[in-house]
Amino acid sequence: MRQVKKSEIIVMVVLMLLSMVLMNRLAQLYILSNCGQNFTNGILFAFDKFFHFDVYAFKLVFNSNVMFPCIMAAVAVLLAFMYYFSTKKNFMYGKEHGSARWGTKKDIAPFIDKKNPDNNIILSATERLSLAPKMPNPLHNRNKNVVVIGGSGKGKSRFIAKPNLCQLNTSFVVTDPKGELLAECGNMLAVQGGYKIKILNLEEMAQSDKFNFFPYIKSEKEILIVVDNLIANTSSAEAEAHSGDDFWVKSERALLTALFAYVNSECRNDEKNISSILDLMSVAAAREDDEDFVSPLDIMFQELEKKEPGCLACYMYNTFKLASGKTAKSILVSLGVRLAPFAINEVRELMSDDELDLTSLGTEKTALFLIVPETYTTFNFIVCILYQLLLERLYDLAKKQRNRRLPIPVQIIGDEIANIGQIPNLQRYISTMRSYGISIILIFQTLTQVEAMDKQNWKTIVGNCDTFVYLGGKEQSTNEYVSKSVGKMTIDQRQTNETKGSHGSYGMQDSTLGRDLLDPSEMEKIPGDKCIVMLSGVEPFQSKKYPLEKHPRYQYLADGGAELFSFERRNELVLEDFFDNTEQVVSIQLDESV
Ligand SMILES: Nc1ncnc2c1ncn2[C@@H]1O[C@H](COP(=O)(O)OP(=O)(O)OP(=O)(O)O)[C@@H](O)[C@H]1O
Ligand SMILES: [Mg+2]
Repeated sequence: MRQVKKSEIIVMVVLMLLSMVLMNRLAQLYILSNCGQNFTNGILFAFDKFFHFDVYAFKLVFNSNVMFPCIMAAVAVLLAFMYYFSTKKNFMYGKEHGSARWGTKKDIAPFIDKKNPDNNIILSATERLSLAPKMPNPLHNRNKNVVVIGGSGKGKSRFIAKPNLCQLNTSFVVTDPKGELLAECGNMLAVQGGYKIKILNLEEMAQSDKFNFFPYIKSEKEILIVVDNLIANTSSAEAEAHSGDDFWVKSERALLTALFAYVNSECRNDEKNISSILDLMSVAAAREDDEDFVSPLDIMFQELEKKEPGCLACYMYNTFKLASGKTAKSILVSLGVRLAPFAINEVRELMSDDELDLTSLGTEKTALFLIVPETYTTFNFIVCILYQLLLERLYDLAKKQRNRRLPIPVQIIGDEIANIGQIPNLQRYISTMRSYGISIILIFQTLTQVEAMDKQNWKTIVGNCDTFVYLGGKEQSTNEYVSKSVGKMTIDQRQTNETKGSHGSYGMQDSTLGRDLLDPSEMEKIPGDKCIVMLSGVEPFQSKKYPLEKHPRYQYLADGGAELFSFERRNELVLEDFFDNTEQVVSIQLDESV
């Protein structure tokens, strides 16, 4: 039996009262008929005179002869309703096993910004998601975070990353493993969109802007963020699995925090960089056989202690110094190995200064390309730290605005983002960035990659993205997940049975059955030009992938015939465009005396 609704109770009470009023009048007329024992005549008289209000005026009477049949009438209505409630089932005809269906143009229409086509995230040939923070109908507000999954070669870059860069609608942070997006879209962004192009190239560091952590460290909180991130991304999976290693990791963290805090508070601005950390490490020492040995680094921290007793640097260094000489030596060795990537000259040079000015992404249209090597991950933690510092600084900038949103919204297009390692607390950033005008398109090859990136929080990460695009692939668990998410529909099933012989019979029976809209094996076989788009609260869409060549700015992409982006010539681009668009150059003679 299903639950009784409030409205049904109200109807029942009204009907009970009405039945009592009607019975009150019928009973009065029956008594007036004087038919005594002849019940049929009395009833016929009562019905006949029911509406003769001019002769028999309508009034309610409350004596026992009249009230008894009234109460009986009310009880009869009550019993009828009890029977109705007890037998009524929760029938959903045609939806018994699921109500999924494919979405249509009408379903996606309220989510698209039709007035300004550039103000949309492109999801497929037909589906878009407006970047407007508030839609005309609040029911159509969705966060702008997207998870894209597509096997190798399924068109993650061509059908998602490139079309969205062509939109020129926000500042962009682009993870670009092959450098392919920068090469093909860089000129279009600079010339057509007037974007400032910034590049962190960990593959070819000579072709990179410089990036230094320290200008982004505004408080001790950021020191802890950088150190935690560095430790998380430079720990091997085996080391993390051994809880016995926890002591060493914590000790290294204490020493590294002390060094960062020291450089941050004691060094000149031009010395605040990773080289200074390595310089401090080079004067650290500990001796197994001499617990009282004082290293040059000990003296530096002793001096700082006199100047600023109890500061973060001293507190963390004193924590490290609690270790015995032998242990301290091991800690120094471990940390030295951990910091080895920074010892490489190219990396020292790359991190000696900062040219990225990450905060400016929120104030002027900027495209920041993060080029990471595809096959080795040694330096990728630098990108993870960059992401965390960038988000912290952008959050701070947004909080200072009157509407608490960035003046220029920022979109992160994380092509092959699993390659860069783990961005600590990514799930927290993803769940809060919407209100500040930041959104993210996370692009993976398989769902298992998402899981591997953050075992504990991957479901929260995927769950906090209102949009999911599947470009196809062979990985089984991904196909099962997408098939399950798309849902089940109810289909009709006809069963026939036939018995042969001298008394043969033939029967036919129709019933309903639940069936995946696309089962995992069908999901694996979706044609190469098709994709699945799922937007929370809306039916899933099976659509064509976006035809890049149809984008109005396609001609400005290298794919459309334009020149490839060149790092060396990037500053000439805007100037070149200026001269290309200048019809006449007039030379003027300057007065020599000026
Ligand atoms: N000029 C073109 N016209 C139509 N389709 C194209 C064109 N160039 C490439 N493609 C399609 O794009 C697919 C490759 O796209 P893309 O490199 O974006 O895939 P991907 O998923 O990013 O691959 P990877 O995993 O290697 O990064 C090809 O399989 C092809 O079907
Ligand atoms: Mg790609």
